[in-house]
Amino acid sequence: MSFRSTRMQGKVAVVTGGASGIGRACALRLAEEGALGVVVADLHLDQARATADEIAAAGGNASAFAVDVRDAQACEDMARHAVDRWGQLDVLVAAAGISGERAAADEEHDGTGAGLSFSSRTWQDVLDVNLNGLMHTDRAVARWMITVGSGGSIVNIASMCSAWASATATPYNVSKAGAWMLTKSLAIELAPHGIRVNAVGPGFIGDTGMTAHTRADEQAAAAVVDRTLLGRFGRPREVADAVLFLAGDESSYFTGSILYPDGGFNAPSR
Ligand SMILES: NC(=O)c1ccc[n+]([C@@H]2O[C@H](COP(=O)([O-])OP(=O)(O)OC[C@H]3O[C@@H](n4cnc5c(N)ncnc54)[C@H](O)[C@@H]3O)[C@@H](O)[C@H]2O)c1
Repeated sequence: MSFRSTRMQGKVAVVTGGASGIGRACALRLAEEGALGVVVADLHLDQARATADEIAAAGGNASAFAVDVRDAQACEDMARHAVDRWGQLDVLVAAAGISGERAAADEEHDGTGAGLSFSSRTWQDVLDVNLNGLMHTDRAVARWMITVGSGGSIVNIASMCSAWASATATPYNVSKAGAWMLTKSLAIELAPHGIRVNAVGPGFIGDTGMTAHTRADEQAAAAVVDRTLLGRFGRPREVADAVLFLAGDESSYFTGSILYPDGGFNAPSR
């Protein structure tokens, strides 16, 4: 018996949004479990490189790749990079995302919203990254997995907002509900190819760019902690642990499923 971490041994993974927060934690976690290669892909190449360098410094294998997931061709290039650089492609963690949280203060409201606080521009931006970008990413990687023919595992980072709505984040909530439906639809489409597709729907996670505003607002942060049964924000690594499970062979009977690491935020009926 060996006690070395090997849950990702022999596997190559692409992680979008790998420069920051949850995506970064996922890239580190997969590498820590012995991945043959981790492609850290992000809009911000310098920060993606920093994650890849951190992995390499700890003895892991990683490369950085600049991608804007809104660009379908760039996603195809990203998948090709994984195969060119590491020889195969087994796992996708699709974590790139934006919150559109400036929506409430958006001055570009074009008057068609009938009282809604977000502009058409914010709606478009959030859907472009969180839903269209996710589709580009999943599709590009799935194509390679189908071509290679040895199956694979796709993990989409959705949100607890995939299922539970909040009043102030309508574009985000809709994008994440779409991410969850995309996950289930692709699970059906890709099962014949041995490709499993699952999602992780985190609650409020600290140490990420996305919750920086909430955490900086004392009242808002206290409200989150108060409602969360475990009494704190989650850690990116706690999300990465759920992702690791779905990415690897331990979840071999999971597809079209979602795991919610939310600290019990949604256990109460309200
Ligand atoms: N932090 C939370 O509480 C929380 C909760 C639920 C779901 N999520 C989801 O987790 C994922 C990661 O978010 P995070 O919290 O780590 O935030 P983050 O802001 O720290 O990380 C998001 C990353 O996505 C990248 N990105 C944004 N737009 C991109 C694009 N067009 N192309 C490529 N990369 C792009 C950013 O550069 C950044 O590195 C997101 O999908 C988010 O919706 C986060």
